[in-house]
Amino acid sequence: MPKKILVTGAAGFIGFSLIGALLKRGDQVLGIDNINDYYDVDLKNARLANLGINPAQIHWHQPIKSQLYPAYTFIRMNLEDQEPLNDLCIKEQFDVMINLAAQPGVRYSINHPHAYAQANLLGFLSILEAARLAKVGHFIYASSSSVYGMNEKVPFSVTDPVDHPLSLYAATKKANELMAHSYSHLYGIPTTGLRFFTVYGPWGRPDMAYYLFAEAIRAGKTIKVFNHGQMKRDFTYIDDIVRGIEAIIEKPAQPLPVTTGSSLDPSRSTAPYRIYNIGNNRPVPLMDFIRELEINLGTNAQMEFLEMQPGDLEETWADISELAVEFGYSPDTDIGQGVAQFVEWFKIYSSAKKSY
Ligand SMILES: NC(=O)c1ccc[n+]([C@@H]2O[C@H](COP(=O)([O-])OP(=O)(O)OC[C@H]3O[C@@H](n4cnc5c(N)ncnc54)[C@H](O)[C@@H]3O)[C@@H](O)[C@H]2O)c1
Repeated sequence: MPKKILVTGAAGFIGFSLIGALLKRGDQVLGIDNINDYYDVDLKNARLANLGINPAQIHWHQPIKSQLYPAYTFIRMNLEDQEPLNDLCIKEQFDVMINLAAQPGVRYSINHPHAYAQANLLGFLSILEAARLAKVGHFIYASSSSVYGMNEKVPFSVTDPVDHPLSLYAATKKANELMAHSYSHLYGIPTTGLRFFTVYGPWGRPDMAYYLFAEAIRAGKTIKVFNHGQMKRDFTYIDDIVRGIEAIIEKPAQPLPVTTGSSLDPSRSTAPYRIYNIGNNRPVPLMDFIRELEINLGTNAQMEFLEMQPGDLEETWADISELAVEFGYSPDTDIGQGVAQFVEWFKIYSSAKKSY
């Protein structure tokens, strides 16, 4: 049955991609985003325009209707704008609220810690409060594979403790999970946290390594390859992520027994609270990913090999068994197909960029 859904981070990579899919399946969507300039605002505006929101007509706190999808409305606002957010959520009575707005990026968090406290802690508290006041039936939010920090056991499982973050970004994402748990416990709000693993694809994020690599390779510039290329990532194609979220929307978190044998399972609770990994379950060596970019861009990369960067993980690998068993989640885009799709979009977007 079609639902009324709030999506924050609507001008962002995952938010935009998700909203497109929700509109196509018949949901009614309200998107919010502050359209900040952490990365190219033109790309955020181009994503909005692609869903029929005219960037020239966007004004703070003014709802704007999509010219392509009658069921889509966008509002430019900050998550931290508590009162307008409360009013909006109480008035609209969303079936589901999906919080994707955040300050992302591991490396940026080293030099800009306050941006993370603002969006990921204060902003997250604000959306939780709005969810509480509106008594929403399901609150879904983005966490991150970065919470696995110093963990060495792979694949990373949601039943593993995650108490050793390597960056403030990761610490704020772990904090979000704890904050969500307290709201699920105190107010009975079903919350589902999703640990995304290196999401890539068309309309992707220009601050992420794969996008920076594509830009540099295209321009004949040298790419910086950290840890001498000895890294693996569980790259997850955007369509697989969107399909996973669509399935999760249908099933709010339920209270469950928390003990598995003698230990507490951190991914569930006697409160309606769940955590899932949403990855690909097939870690790819970074050099293989670069090779796919070279093939699709038709140019060899010039590489400068450097030491590991502070805050980075050497390997990410998602154990997705909970999502597979409970939701039939089965990501099926391999790196060959995924990179080809990304590069096809990237070439068109990069050439047309100036016209947006
Ligand atoms: N893309 C990935 O690989 C990945 C991996 C792990 C986790 N995540 C998480 O998934 C979520 C979505 O990621 P994305 O890749 O789409 O990022 P994105 O940066 O493209 O999208 C986030 C959007 O949120 C908006 N935003 C930021 N702070 C805001 C605020 N205070 N109020 C209102 N809007 C605000 C930004 O303008 C941006 O458009 C984020 O929470 C991110 O931390 C993403």
